[in-house]
Order: sequence, then structure tokens, then C-alpha cells
Amino acid sequence: MKAVRIIMTLLESVVLISVLFTGCQKKAATQVGIVLPTKDEPRWIQDQTRFMESLQNAGFSAKVLFSQGDSAKEKANVEALIAEGIKVLIICPHDGTAAAAAADLANKVGVKVISYDRLIRDTTSVDYYVTFDSFQVGAAWGDYLISQVPEGSKGNNLYLYAGAASDNNAFIFFEGAWSRLQPKIADGTFVVRNSDKAVALMNKASLTRDEMAQIIGQVTTNWNFNDAKSKAEANLTAVGKEAKGTVYICAPNDGTARAIADAFAADKAVSKYYITGQDAEIASIQYIIDGKQSMTVLKDVRTLVQDAINAAIAYMKGSNPPVTTTYNNGKKDVPAKPTAIVVVTKDNVKKEIIESGYWPSDNFTGLSN
Ligand code: BGC
Repeated sequence: MKAVRIIMTLLESVVLISVLFTGCQKKAATQVGIVLPTKDEPRWIQDQTRFMESLQNAGFSAKVLFSQGDSAKEKANVEALIAEGIKVLIICPHDGTAAAAAADLANKVGVKVISYDRLIRDTTSVDYYVTFDSFQVGAAWGDYLISQVPEGSKGNNLYLYAGAASDNNAFIFFEGAWSRLQPKIADGTFVVRNSDKAVALMNKASLTRDEMAQIIGQVTTNWNFNDAKSKAEANLTAVGKEAKGTVYICAPNDGTARAIADAFAADKAVSKYYITGQDAEIASIQYIIDGKQSMTVLKDVRTLVQDAINAAIAYMKGSNPPVTTTYNNGKKDVPAKPTAIVVVTKDNVKKEIIESGYWPSDNFTGLSN
């Protein structure tokens, strides 16, 4: 019996050692974890693809996981990556506030946390923020719409739409747009047709987060194409003919812009619409070529991915990534390096999208020479 017990103990030790060894092996397998919000939007599939391309030369091992618009899944993804021994977490939160718990978990075990494109809010556990200049995205929408209004004209119909209130970016985009549009609403150039909160606040040049939340609450698309379409249809049903004719639409991204544009195009009382967007999605570039979307904002994902990879390398070498500004997340001024954006219209689509190598021309039809 004693011999059996000794053999059992020996066997158990072997199993334990091999578990530990496999554990160690696993730990070494992933150095950087990348968590993206959803596969259901072309924007984040693009980020995954660009990551996979750039990671080939990054010199470290990495894994990309998707959260499918679910904060619980996002946290489970982070836990799984921590268990694999990651040193750096690059995370684009589905919900900026809910993701604080996941960031805290990583921070507690010494993992550096890089907020990617969207800022994680209300925690000190964020080390760095790689982002585009989101204020300028919104400002570009405002500038574009203003540039299309006949000089000196008044009472032009304006429809405002926003991203999801759970995304900090939705506020920054809105703030940028408001900085340009508000003076033109206040002087009567535009009349906002789909938000009485915006009308009530039209004389306030700068809004508090709470005031922005009131307007965003009325005009949110939740970053969802179907929500965007039904909101636009409901807005059109609610107004009379005087609010149609030529309309100016501030749409928050390409997916929602196409949905909103389709709804406005289907309304016989709308004779012409101008509509904004962002992300330079392939489908929206085609809409721009076809004259169905007026502009988009190119946010070069290749640069964002490279900035995130460089930051991860810096952290793994024990140094810090470059900082040009900070963004307050409610608890901390997070060091950041925002990237410039490019406005794309029919006039420069060939140069900025095709000749820059962003998308190959065989994705499109009707491109002029
Ligand atoms: C991103 C946009 C994207 C939107 C919806 C924002 O946080 O900055 O590029 O279109 O989320 O996913």
C-alpha cells in the first residue's frame, strides 16, 4: 500500500509539474492582448485586419478578441488574456464606463492598459490613450455642412444625430460639431428639426457633459444602423413639409450615415440632402462616388494600430510612449497622442483613398480618372 501511495504521489507531482509547465508555456504565448468591441461593424474588422498585418513585424506575440457589444464578455476576454500572461492590454471598450472594471483587473496584476480609439472612463487604471483627434472629426462635420449653405441664407433645416452615449467619443464628436454649428444655429442660419433640447440650448457656446447627454439622448443612433434608420424615419414623420426640402444632416459615422441617408432619400418631400460621416468605409466611399453621401472623415487605422503597437513595445522595454496631450476620463488626465484626420469628399476621394493606398480601386465602381 505504501508503495502505491508513493507511486500516486509521484504521479501527482508529475501531473502538477506538467500543469505548471503548460501554464508557464501558455503564459509566454501571449504578450499583448487586443480587445475590440464588435465584429458587427466594418470599422472594427478593419482594425483587426490592420493589426494582423502590422503584428507580423512587431516582434511580440499577440491575440485579438472581440467583445460583441457585451461588457461581460469584454471582461471575460480580459481575464482570459491576463491568465495567458499578457504584459500589455490594448482595449477599445464597448462601454467606456463599464470597461473600468476590466482595466482595474489588468492594472492590479501589473498589466499596462492602453485605451484604443475609445477612452475608458472613471478609473485611474488607464496608462495611455491612442486616438484620433475626435474633436476635429465633429468640427469637420460642422464646417462641411456650413460650407454647403447658400451664403447669407437663414432657416436651413438641420438634423443632428449622435453615437452611443456609452461611448466617450460620441461626446467628443458632438462637442466638435457643436463648436461650429452652435453659432450658426444661434444666428438663425440653421433650424434644428429633431431635438428640442438642442433648440433650448442653442445660445450656449459650450455645453456641460450633462447638457450634451440631454441632446445625445434624443438623437442617439446607439451606433446601430437599424436604430439610425428608424430614428430618421420617425423624425421625418414628425415634421411638416417646411422641415424638408433641402436638408443638412450631421450623421456620426458611415454606417449610420448610409442608413439615415437612405431614409431621407426615400422621403419624396426631401429634394436634396447633405450628410456627414466618418471611417471611410468601403460602402460609404461608394456612396460618396455615387453622390449618396456627401463626405466622410478618414481616420487612418494604419496609424492608430502602429501607435498602439509602438506604445506596447515601449512599455515592454520599460519606457513610455510619446505624449502630446491628455484626455480627462473623469478620474485621471490620461496621456495621449491623437492622430490627425482627413476630410474626404467626391473632389479628393481618389487622392486620399486610392492613391494613398488606403483601399484598392477594385473595391469601387464609377471612379472618374
Ligand atoms: C469610433 C468610430 C466608430 C464608432 C462606432 C467610435 O468610437 O471612433 O470610428 O464608427 O465608434 O463603432
